[in-house]
Amino acid sequence: MSVSGKLADPRLQGRVMKRVVFSTEQIANRVRELGREITSTYPGGDLLVLGLLKGSFIFVSDLVRQINRPLQVDFLVAASYGTDMVSSGHVRLVYDPETILEGKHILLVEDVVDSGRTLSRVMDVLRERSPASLEVCAMLDKHLATHLRYPPKFVGFDAPSEFLVGYGLDHAENFRHLPYIASL
Ligand code: IMP
Ligand code: MG
Repeated sequence: MSVSGKLADPRLQGRVMKRVVFSTEQIANRVRELGREITSTYPGGDLLVLGLLKGSFIFVSDLVRQINRPLQVDFLVAASYGTDMVSSGHVRLVYDPETILEGKHILLVEDVVDSGRTLSRVMDVLRERSPASLEVCAMLDKHLATHLRYPPKFVGFDAPSEFLVGYGLDHAENFRHLPYIASL
């Protein structure tokens, strides 16, 4: 893949990644498994897959194609202040889904659970809309949160506590398009 074990990829703008943490193939295999798990978890009722933008956009698009039952897709946007590699803890909803949430099985899809603050805030808002059920599917879980109020029911991978990019994850809006997940 590269000289001296570092990644040489024209998508990286000359930046050097430490390593590939999850390869394209590993991700595809895991997403297929998750799709099967989710399909069997929801035998009936209306399922709404709600992607938390922007980080989940690639994961959602791959995941919904592996869920073998009727569903709807919508997105919501929660912004946390700052563009740093450290999450600030302040979250606001910028886009609110227009789809009716009441009475539906809602599966909120997140890119990565880090401190879990984004998740808590968004789940509190969604819970007030009286869904039939409300669960979380996280592509990555860093297991850093000690008091997660809404632990994800579905997790793609347990992730190391490193700053990761690719497959939707960004650093200052870059690298979302990498087909693998790498450590910056
Ligand atoms: P939390 O609110 O601390 O759980 O942070 C969650 C959000 O922070 C995620 O939805 C990401 O947008 C961002 N984030 C956390 N860890 C990473 C990372 O390793 N790479 C890129 N974004 C991250
Ligand atoms: Mg981000």
